[in-house]
Amino acid sequence: MTAMNSPLLDHCPSTLPAQAYFDPAWFEAERARIWAREWVPAGRIDSFPDRTIRRVEIAGASVIVLRDGAELRAYHNVCRHRGAELCAAETEPLRGKLVTCPYHAWAYATDGRLVSTAFGTPTADFRKEDNGLLPVALRLWNGFVFLCLAETPPAFAPDIGIADAALSLAALDNWPMDRLVVGHRLETTIACNWKIFWENYNECLHCPGIHSQLSARVPVYAKGIMSPAESAETAAAPGPVYADGAETWTVSGRPCGPVFDGLTAAERAEGHRFVTTYPGSFVVAHVDYVRAMTLTPISPEETRLKAEWLFLPETLARPDFDLSDVVDFASTVIAEDAAACEMNQRGLRSPAYVSGRLMPQEFDIARFHRWVLERVGNDVPNLKAES
Ligand code: FES
Ligand SMILES: [Fe+2]
Repeated sequence: MTAMNSPLLDHCPSTLPAQAYFDPAWFEAERARIWAREWVPAGRIDSFPDRTIRRVEIAGASVIVLRDGAELRAYHNVCRHRGAELCAAETEPLRGKLVTCPYHAWAYATDGRLVSTAFGTPTADFRKEDNGLLPVALRLWNGFVFLCLAETPPAFAPDIGIADAALSLAALDNWPMDRLVVGHRLETTIACNWKIFWENYNECLHCPGIHSQLSARVPVYAKGIMSPAESAETAAAPGPVYADGAETWTVSGRPCGPVFDGLTAAERAEGHRFVTTYPGSFVVAHVDYVRAMTLTPISPEETRLKAEWLFLPETLARPDFDLSDVVDFASTVIAEDAAACEMNQRGLRSPAYVSGRLMPQEFDIARFHRWVLERVGNDVPNLKAES
């Protein structure tokens, strides 16, 4: 019997077919129908220096992001004249508030308008207003820059596991997100399909066996569940989020600096808040720091992962600040998850494995699968009907 508001599934759905994790046709369909259509993270705002053009790659498309003071804009990295690449370097200064093509010197204003065709002298049938830079949608959320290649972008919809868009969008409002700066960064490539990463993220059945340190800290994780609502026993008596009086995800269990003063009592008691922005990132907000994770598919079986630990500048400046106490805790979790993801990927290559079954506790994986299938369902091979 499950608890009253239990999110557990009432059946065991089939997983995605094995091909979904290595077939180039799946990978291409996902690139076109997910990564090139959804909001994808491009970095913290302070990774875009003022008066600079920065080149970023989104779903195989080269994009330039221009920053001029508070103004941030993104365009495809291509000139409207004969299609030259506008920016070859990682970053370039924004000279004279213009983006100038290195080939025949067409020049564009930061709002994308074509302002000069240089030595070219157009005839009356050429209209400058029809030949501006090709825009890419950009939005800022809690100090993160997101880009979307779609001409009509979908709603920006962070996910906190409940069907309330306004609440999800506001989930980090009491954290001082705009003031946080990166204090540590970890980048690694995991030998797995990007969906394997999300599946592992979306369940805690693996926690008791894979994460000994984390399960000792978070008692519900030691039971293989993500929240007290998932079992009748813990729903009736949730108990503290952390064992042994710990307050956060540090090795010592102590906050790495002052607790954020805008948090409500309930938010402080919550200990960690996960906010997911599919397909490319999630944020874990603690009472004393925040960790942002970004993933980028490199190939069907390789995913680039970036972790950034964000702190208040005054926390980083404290003489007693202990970076390794903070970073070592989650770095262990990340390494354990990466190894689990790679083990999963290797197994999926077995010619004997066609597809598997989810357990009722894997309700968030089922939701993630539906999210993927709603977008690529008609475009991928060998798809069996979801049970
Ligand atoms: S291709 Fe850019 S000015 Fe000619
Ligand atoms: Fe994990």
